[in-house]
Amino acid sequence: MNIIRAKDYQDMSRKAANIISAQIIMKPDCVLGLATGSTPVGTYRQLIEWYEKGDLDFSRVSTVNLDEYRGLAHTDPQSYYYFMQENLFDHVNIDKTATHVPDGTNPDAADACAKHEQIIKSLGGIDLQLLGLGNNGHIGFNEPGAAFEKETHLVDLAESTIRANARFFTSIDEVPKQAYTMGIRTIMQAKKILVVVSGESKADIVSRAFFGPVTPEVPASILQMHPDVTVVCDEAALSMS
Ligand code: GLP
Repeated sequence: MNIIRAKDYQDMSRKAANIISAQIIMKPDCVLGLATGSTPVGTYRQLIEWYEKGDLDFSRVSTVNLDEYRGLAHTDPQSYYYFMQENLFDHVNIDKTATHVPDGTNPDAADACAKHEQIIKSLGGIDLQLLGLGNNGHIGFNEPGAAFEKETHLVDLAESTIRANARFFTSIDEVPKQAYTMGIRTIMQAKKILVVVSGESKADIVSRAFFGPVTPEVPASILQMHPDVTVVCDEAALSMS
């Protein structure tokens, strides 16, 4: 596990975007696994800036997203589908038919999850998976206690995740209680993994996830077992490690 110390959020975003750019330049038709949440927003912003300067070409890139709330329409600003259009896809020359977010509008969980997993397989797997880190150590929506061997599946969100994500909704009651998420197994099958973490509020979970024992109680700790993981943390996030 390669842990890179960044000065602050901006520096973290630039360093992470550098790694993603290198992947696109080395393999223009690569498959990127993408994440939502507030942490990767700066990384996407940096990628857009480099695209606008003419330094990056997304025309042959395919993407698969980690997770999606169950039951939100694509037009719902809180859906991860919408997030991805807003924060990346609308601003670069990506072929939108090559972008895949789990279909939260499909009420048939088994079908939605099997389709997502099938897409990943048909693309030949994920070259580089970007991840944020939940306050309780979740990755995607794999909550503490999740079985490590799962592929894309339906999850009930932890109370702490619903509370943490309530900041994006007008009230906590509007936060969906379920989501479709790539499983730990899907994530671990990615060839490379890039984790971005920022801020003092993540310092405790960073020390438990990347410097503590590997346990399902801290889902991100399994990443210690992956052969090619880079974690880019800002100083605040590393302050307890
Ligand atoms: C959500 C997402 C995760 C993300 C986490 C942390 O729960 N499903 O993929 O990593 O939030 O979000 P943030 O980066 O806003 O702290």
